[in-house]
Amino acid sequence: MINIRQEVPLFSYNTFGIPATASVFVESDDATELADFVRSLPDPSSAFLLGGGSNVLFVSNRCELVIHPVIKGIEVTAETGDDVWIRAGAGEGWDDFVSWCVARNYAGVENLSHIPGTVGACPIQNIGAYGTEVKETVETVETIETATGKTVTFNNQQCQFDYRDSFFKKHRGKYLITAVQFKLSKRFEPNVKYAGLKTELSRNTHVTMENMRQAVISIRSRKLPDSAELGNAGSFFKNPTINTAKSREINELDPQAPLYPVSHGYWKMSAAWLIRHAGWKGMQDGNVGTHKRQPLVIVNYGGATGKEVLDFAQKIIDSVDQKFGIRLDPEVNVV
Ligand code: EPU
Repeated sequence: MINIRQEVPLFSYNTFGIPATASVFVESDDATELADFVRSLPDPSSAFLLGGGSNVLFVSNRCELVIHPVIKGIEVTAETGDDVWIRAGAGEGWDDFVSWCVARNYAGVENLSHIPGTVGACPIQNIGAYGTEVKETVETVETIETATGKTVTFNNQQCQFDYRDSFFKKHRGKYLITAVQFKLSKRFEPNVKYAGLKTELSRNTHVTMENMRQAVISIRSRKLPDSAELGNAGSFFKNPTINTAKSREINELDPQAPLYPVSHGYWKMSAAWLIRHAGWKGMQDGNVGTHKRQPLVIVNYGGATGKEVLDFAQKIIDSVDQKFGIRLDPEVNVV
């Protein structure tokens, strides 16, 4: 059913806990209804499409129109001896979906346990953690094209997935995601490529999918702040890719600096290392700061505005650039 409300505070709809107001807030659990609503809008591109609000920073105090799809349902749509296809509504909580899959021994998303947000948001920034990205299991993404209200389904290739990037991120607001279909496996092979995960599981002689999920949850709970206690949107910046010349400069400063090869001549550099070495770990400026354990996460100590958070982030960007000649790129969606 469609529910249209006016003057809705967005404070509880974003994990940063930033105060903003939606002039009109539209919620529906029905894709057809949402398509009809979108078709009725004079300027559908002006709508802000809200998922779980875990990767957004509201900088302007007001959003004219917010659309919040709450479409539910998880179902197996096909299966073979080894594989299973599962379709989930955009409004399902991402971690509820992961838990559902792990409970049924469907493998492929267990390393992505405990990530906040919704199923509908997962393809937008191609969520990734502990050696897995969601692009490895997304089969199709069902959407409503906001300009026309038409249903458009994207296959994996058409999603143009990249590190924390996709077609949907590049064309923000143009497609409202209503459901995602995943291809998971009935054969579980633990992915322990990520060093920290391997250490966490070193006491297990036989690793089950549930062990994997619990290991990821333990690491995340130790490292990342809980947004219910301290407003945040996870990693604020992406880990930058740098060339070999720059990686040598970093190596000279610290031979232990975390650098991982991504392709010939290019390295993934830890943004947390750069922020720490530019002197920002645990720093607080008014209501905003970097998290004490994880400087990649910017936190709202209470009462921060989006503008304060953005100004603080800009100071970090400038400072890292000045010190290392590397410009950090925000991962969070600034609205
Ligand atoms: N890395 C590897 N192999 C390893 C260890 C690390 O390739 O064995 C890479 C990571 O993939 C990352 C970099 O080295 O690119 C730094 O790794 P670190 O463990 O320090 O993680 P991070 O930078 O703090 C990133 C993600 C997190 C994710 C963790 C675990 C970004 C911006 N952040 O954090 O995602 O949970 O790795 O995989 O890529 C988020 O996006 O909000 C988020 C919390």
